[in-house]
Amino acid sequence: MQQTLPPGIEQVIFSAEDIAAANRRTAEAIARDYAGRSLVLIGVLKGALFATADLARALAEAPGGPTDVQLDFIAVSSYGNAHRSSGEVRLIQDTTHAIEGRHVVIVEDIIDNGHTLHYLRAMLAAREPASVRAAVLLDKPYHRAVDVAVDYVGLTCPDEFVVGYGLDYQERYRTLPYLAKLRPEVLPR
Ligand code: PRP
Repeated sequence: MQQTLPPGIEQVIFSAEDIAAANRRTAEAIARDYAGRSLVLIGVLKGALFATADLARALAEAPGGPTDVQLDFIAVSSYGNAHRSSGEVRLIQDTTHAIEGRHVVIVEDIIDNGHTLHYLRAMLAAREPASVRAAVLLDKPYHRAVDVAVDYVGLTCPDEFVVGYGLDYQERYRTLPYLAKLRPEVLPR
């Protein structure tokens, strides 16, 4: 059946089912790697709101896995209202718990030029956790400006501006349950 898409949306790129399957695969990999250990997931707001919630629940359902999983959040911004990242990352809200001596997995919705994850890895590593890894739902590898390790990748994103499942354009479209391509005429030239 033809799906009616909201104004501004051209095409669904990854369905809710594709996203759930990717979250399950990542959860199974994390469960294997952190079996028997205590883990902190740090979701990067706002974009990774849904990815963090769904990954955490998939992790609870994965066989084996960590002894316990704690959730924390950090808010950073690099895009502002623009459609291209400025490369200048701003900390908007820090985590609420100390991570010294803890195993940490950063949960991101998307990596594009890599500045955000690079900034977060350096900032969190300076707090002397036992380890820091990164789980990214969408890898957009075409415009990387810095070399940064991504330990778990859910899906590879085409070179399009995508919205939905937490990702916005000017704060719109975040609540769509799928990932979709924005109509090019919506974006400034
Ligand atoms: C987006 C996304 C990542 C970052 C990735 O956040 O959620 O955190 O950009 O881009 P990069 O690899 O090019 O640095 P944004 O700054 O748009 O804030 P938001 O999550 O609040 O939408």
